[in-house]
Amino acid sequence: TKIAVFASGTGSNFESIANEIKAGTMDCEISMLVCDNPEAKVIAKATTFEIPTFVFNPKGYTNKELYETEIVEVLEQAEVEWIVLAGYMRLIGPTLLTEYNGRILNIHPSLLPAFPGKDAIGQALDAGVKVSGVTIHYVDEGMDTGEIIAQESLVLEDGEDRESLQERIQQMEHRLYPIVLQEVVQSFVNKEGKDIQ
Ligand code: GRF
Repeated sequence: TKIAVFASGTGSNFESIANEIKAGTMDCEISMLVCDNPEAKVIAKATTFEIPTFVFNPKGYTNKELYETEIVEVLEQAEVEWIVLAGYMRLIGPTLLTEYNGRILNIHPSLLPAFPGKDAIGQALDAGVKVSGVTIHYVDEGMDTGEIIAQESLVLEDGEDRESLQERIQQMEHRLYPIVLQEVVQSFVNKEGKDIQ
């Protein structure tokens, strides 16, 4: 199954998925990295894995529909079937949602529906929660609102600081995302047959 990973920043989740694929534990290949930030560290990671990139600057377009139309063209050219958001800091618009309906996943560093949006880890710490975690969900038009696929929780240590919580959540993400992605894609293939296009 051909997937595209969308990322805006560091790309540690991109890297963990690419590593699992390389190790042969998934029936996926990353056919494209889509990145909306020409400065992002994730671009060099894609180059290391010899994964093609589509890098764009949203400021160069008058609206979302225009750049998403271009993304759809690039993805169709590469026969991409699934979109995997990994730190992509933008809402997905109707153009992509229509084309990839039910085949877009996201990972978020909180137990949704708690703490959607930016800096979920900071939000959780400010709220003083004792438990937090990671959510993987389908993407809809809202901000971190789509149907939940999987969650894993962790108990905060007394007085745990941001650095420590962030580190533990990231480790959880890196382990969980490849596993859940493989399960979702595999069960889709089993249900629908592979030739969905
Ligand atoms: C992750 O914490 C993910 O949950 C959130 O953005 C972060 C991306 O980190 N959506 P990275 O770029 O994969 O290192």
